[in-house]
Amino acid sequence: MIHTTLDSFPENFLWGSASAAYQIEGGWDQDAKGPSVWDSFTKIPGKTFKGTNGDVAVDHYNHFKLDVALMGEMGLKAYRFSIAWSRIYPEGRGEINEQGIAFYNNLINELIKHNITPIITVYHWDLPEALQKEYGGWESRNIIEDFNNYCMTLYERFGDRVKDWITLNEQNIFISHGYLEGSHPPGVQDKKRMYQANHIANLANAKAIKSFKSYVSDGKIGPSFAYGPAYPYSSHPESVLAAENAEEFVNHWWMDIYCFGKYPEAAWRYLEERGLAPEIKEGDMELLAEGKPDFMGINYYQTGAYEKNADGVLKGAKENHDGKKGNFTESGVKGLYKRKRNTYVDTTNWDWEIDPMGLRIALRRITSRYGLPVLITENGLGAFDELEKGDSINDDYRIAYIESHLRQCREAITDGVELLGYCTWSFTDLLSWLNGYQKRYGFIYINRDEDSEKDLRRIKKKSFYWYKSVIENNGENL
Ligand code: NOJ
Repeated sequence: MIHTTLDSFPENFLWGSASAAYQIEGGWDQDAKGPSVWDSFTKIPGKTFKGTNGDVAVDHYNHFKLDVALMGEMGLKAYRFSIAWSRIYPEGRGEINEQGIAFYNNLINELIKHNITPIITVYHWDLPEALQKEYGGWESRNIIEDFNNYCMTLYERFGDRVKDWITLNEQNIFISHGYLEGSHPPGVQDKKRMYQANHIANLANAKAIKSFKSYVSDGKIGPSFAYGPAYPYSSHPESVLAAENAEEFVNHWWMDIYCFGKYPEAAWRYLEERGLAPEIKEGDMELLAEGKPDFMGINYYQTGAYEKNADGVLKGAKENHDGKKGNFTESGVKGLYKRKRNTYVDTTNWDWEIDPMGLRIALRRITSRYGLPVLITENGLGAFDELEKGDSINDDYRIAYIESHLRQCREAITDGVELLGYCTWSFTDLLSWLNGYQKRYGFIYINRDEDSEKDLRRIKKKSFYWYKSVIENNGENL
C-alpha cells in the first residue's frame, strides 16, 4: 500500500467477461463450418480428460440469445468472444461462408441491443484444419497472407459496430503447448520448430494489426498475452538473476516483439548460440516494427517464482487431467532458471497459484516497460462447483478471488496504470481444452446431465449477483 486514498474506476470502464468459440459454441459442423485442428485433436484417444471435446460444448451457437439476455440482466458492459475462423472460411481461405458471417452478425447485434460492447478475438487457437494439412499451419509463411485475408474480412464485415479487437489469444501458450510440450495441436515437441512457428505468428500478428488501421480507423487492436510475472524465489543474487532470465524468456520474448518490434537481446543471443533462433528474412523486422498494438491485452492467472537451474530441469509443467491437487511440476531452461512452488500463496483446485498482488505488479511492469494502456482480457478461478438443493451454487471462493484481483486493479489505477477494462474468465461455464467440463469458471452454471447432452440448463451462481452489483456501483463497493 503506498496510497492513502484510491482512485475510482474510470467512468467508461469495461466491466466484462470472456469466452472462446471452441469452448462454448458447439455446432461444430453446423451451417457449413469446416473442421478446426481442435475438432480433430480432441478425437485422438488420450489427449483430453475422458475424451471430452467441443462438438456440443455449451451449445452457445444455438442458445446465444439466451446467453446474451443473461449478460444483459447482469448489466455486463463488455463481452469478449472469439470467432471460429473455419465458420467464416471452412477451408481457411477461398469462399466466404455467409452463414458463419450471419451468426456473428446476429451475436454482435444482440449484444448491442443489450448495451454490451462487443470485443472480438480474431484467433483463439481453432485453426482451420485445412491449413494445417495443406502447409503445416503456423510453420509456413503462407499463413501470413491467409490470416491477414481472414482478418480483413472480419474488419470489413464487423468493423462498423465492433471497435475493440484482439488478434492472437495467448500466442505464448498455443505456440509452446503446440510445438514444445506437444499437449495442444499439432502435438509437436521440437524447440527449433517452436521458435520458427512463433516468428511466423509474430509476422502474421503484425500484418493483421497493420491492415486494421485502414479498415477500422476509429478502433483499437492488440494481442492477448498470458502474462505471469517472474519473481525471484529468494533474494540470493542467483535467484534474482534466474528471475530476470525467466522474465526475458517467458514474457519479454513475446511482448517486446509486439510493442518494440524486436526480440530481447539476452534471449536472442542465447538461442542464436544454440542454433535455435528463428530465421529472419528481408522485410521481417520492418513489418514487425510497423504492426504495433494500441494496447496490451493480458490474461492473468498466476505469477512464477524462479531460482537458478543448477540441476537442469527442462520439462514444461503439464496440465493434469484428473483435477487432483499436488501435481506442480518444475519447469525451466537448463542453466538459466527453474520454476519453484511459491510457498507464500494459496492454490486453486488445479494447483494454480493465487496471487492477486501479482496482478498489480503485472500491470505496473507493462506500464513502465511498454507505456501502453492495458485491457485485462481474462482473469478468473477454475473450480469444482457444487449444485446445491434449490438450484443454488454458493461460489464464495470465486467471489473472493475476483474481488481480491479487482482491488489490486484499483491500486494499479491509482499507481498510474491506464486500465481499459477487466474481463472475467468466463461468463458461462465452458470446456477447458484438456480438462473437459469439470473445471468451472463461469458466473452461469451449465448443468451437464451425464445421460443427456441436451440438458445444458443455465443456472445463475451467487457470483452472478455479486458481479452485477460491482458493475452497478462501478466498483465503488469493492
Ligand atoms: C487462457 C485461455 O485463453 C482460455 O482459453 C483458457 O480456458 C483459460 N486460460 C483457462 O485455462
